[in-house]
Amino acid sequence: AHPPQTALSGRDPKSFGYATLQKRLPVIVSKIVDDVYRAYNVLQESDPFKETKELEAKKIIETIGGLRYELQRDKPFRPLTDTYPDVNEWNQALADYYKGSSWYKASWLFSECYLYRRVEEAFALTEHWKDYDPFFEQKQTVFRSSQKAIIAIAVRLMSPAHTNNNNEEKDKSKYEVIKSLSALDVLVSQGPDSKGTAEAFFELLQVCLWGNATDLSLLDNPDLAKVEELQRRMMMDNSSASSPNADQGQDSAEGNQQQKPPSELEKHAEKIIQNDSELLWDKVKTLRGGRVDIILDNAGFELYVDLVFADYLIRAGFASQVVFHAKRIPWFVSDVMPFDFQWTLDQLTNASNSATPFFNASDPKEQEALKDLGLKWQSYVDKGIWKVTSHNFWTSCYSFYHLTTLPSAQDLFQDMKQSDLWIFKGDLNYRKLVYDCNWPTTTPFVDAIGPLGMNKGDSGVPSLVSLRTCKADVVVGLQDGVKERVEKVSEDWMVSGEYAVISFSP
Ligand code: F6P
Ligand code: MG
Repeated sequence: AHPPQTALSGRDPKSFGYATLQKRLPVIVSKIVDDVYRAYNVLQESDPFKETKELEAKKIIETIGGLRYELQRDKPFRPLTDTYPDVNEWNQALADYYKGSSWYKASWLFSECYLYRRVEEAFALTEHWKDYDPFFEQKQTVFRSSQKAIIAIAVRLMSPAHTNNNNEEKDKSKYEVIKSLSALDVLVSQGPDSKGTAEAFFELLQVCLWGNATDLSLLDNPDLAKVEELQRRMMMDNSSASSPNADQGQDSAEGNQQQKPPSELEKHAEKIIQNDSELLWDKVKTLRGGRVDIILDNAGFELYVDLVFADYLIRAGFASQVVFHAKRIPWFVSDVMPFDFQWTLDQLTNASNSATPFFNASDPKEQEALKDLGLKWQSYVDKGIWKVTSHNFWTSCYSFYHLTTLPSAQDLFQDMKQSDLWIFKGDLNYRKLVYDCNWPTTTPFVDAIGPLGMNKGDSGVPSLVSLRTCKADVVVGLQDGVKERVEKVSEDWMVSGEYAVISFSP
């Protein structure tokens, strides 16, 4: 049934859904108003459409204000009124499943998705603001605040010879962000079965996972210094990478070497409360020039590390193509749209030659590294090695259970069947995978994802993995006793973004 009986909703005042509807969504909506206000106030006198644009902006502000009122008063949902291709599907769902329903009564997942679709409607009904992204400025700001980590990774990735030079101690510590990155080409050139390739895999997988911890919708008031600190702590490495099952702290083969202190990533590994990374590695190892699909989550630092991971898959020869699935409309504040993807590559490529560079990289070596990385990634796009797409399905009201059957998603599903591995990033994608239900935490992941799980006949769904930091009150796949252990340490473990899962379905 849609929505399922046990879907989480905002009815229960103790739920995270309730807290979101009460506190976080109104803030997000108010920020849209502020953004549009700022945008029309800087319109140029010379703009021939200034007057109409201003009138339309005022209308948007009024409409968004009305939306906030409906949300806060728990008014019934109303049908959408724009003419975009997905409008009938939305209105059909509203009529079939949500008649008389409203924000707090409906499933939390539906209410949130509906909110972002209503925001899109407000812009769609204008002539000049149709493609305006009211979250773009916020995405940019947080991306800028991540630049230390971004620059450090670029330098390590693009100039290994330089940063490996023992004489340059100062440089070494500055760029010692991720150990294996500095030697990525060297490591992967030893072949897919080499130790180095495996080490790089486990390290980059974790970086890609924790990149999801600093998104914007959870930080309704992002403290940029905190974002930077979080990234620094996650990325700073003072030891070598290891697989989750490696004997950490054991002496090396040579015998008496001193024990290394655990790296930040290793310390973080304890917070991955379901960790299927070995299973994922077993799958990735079998790929030789396969196709990997990444269902993206947030722009900014998270997208950047997703690209680093995708670059690894290409360089190591596991994938010959990576297909990125972005969102068609501004979604959950910080999600990647195709524009954000290209914009990110452009900022990298322009790092050394633009008059107003986005990055504050004064050192020519840093500028070169950013530029080279941008050019490399742009060449992947130009050659079709990387492909960026967006499909209405990702911003529909439906969960991913419906990918295999929803008529409007069949073109997407047929295409995705040709992939060898689907990687779902982030919290919302996880919620859509498990249908945002009130599952017992010990429910196996492969059961919770319904038709996308294994042993469901010849569905054509390949292996999939979800890399997610926990930011909503649904978690599955835990061993007996894990919930009880974590609960003792942290009251808000399910929603704080401090814990994570790597959940794999073969
Ligand atoms: O309400 C919190 C929330 O907006 C969730 O609804 C959503 O799942 C999450 O934040 C967004 O996180 P992510 O960007 O990881 O999907
Ligand atoms: Mg997101």
